[in-house]
Amino acid sequence: MSIVHLNNYFMSSFILDLGRSQFGDTKNAGRLMDIQEAHELLHLWVGNERLRLHMKQVAALMKAWALEREGQDEVGSRAWELAGLLHDADWEKYPASHCKMIIEELERRAIDPTVIRCIACHGPKYFGVEPETKMEKMIYVFDELSGFIHAVALIRPAGYEGMDTKSVLKKLKTLSFAAQVNREDISDAIGRVDHNIEEIIEFILDHQKYVG
Ligand SMILES: [Fe+2]
Repeated sequence: MSIVHLNNYFMSSFILDLGRSQFGDTKNAGRLMDIQEAHELLHLWVGNERLRLHMKQVAALMKAWALEREGQDEVGSRAWELAGLLHDADWEKYPASHCKMIIEELERRAIDPTVIRCIACHGPKYFGVEPETKMEKMIYVFDELSGFIHAVALIRPAGYEGMDTKSVLKKLKTLSFAAQVNREDISDAIGRVDHNIEEIIEFILDHQKYVG
């Protein structure tokens, strides 16, 4: 979930608690979809270009973070990237079963359980699944904040160019700006990792501007 779809739906009225905490099958560990196949699924299920961009942005952030901050290699970072790329893939087509449908699709495709559980963790208050691993915590951190920063870029004539952490923090404190973005979710997500909000915003600003 994020700012991109809150414009269209009042999500809390129908978001479902998944009612489970185990996802996928451990025998599928290491089975990662290739990125091309994930893009095909994304295009099949999501017609809204802005929603697709949101997922590509979260994917790029997850991949870059895995490579640069977690010491993951190309294969390891693909799990992070896939979770970001598909986390809202079912939002447009199955709004009443958001998260459940993409999880079941990836279970059908016998994808690595770490990817599936990571997707289930992107909204603990809504889906009832608590992030445990760093990968699970980071998707929650990046989801809402990435959308918020993109909203800030959209109202600036120069877009991402010259945007700094201070201006993002100021907009976060301006509750009338992108009012649908839940500031409590952002604080809750940041509070679960050993990084402060400035560091995360800076990382997003450094990487998100290249995603188109
Ligand atoms: Fe999202």
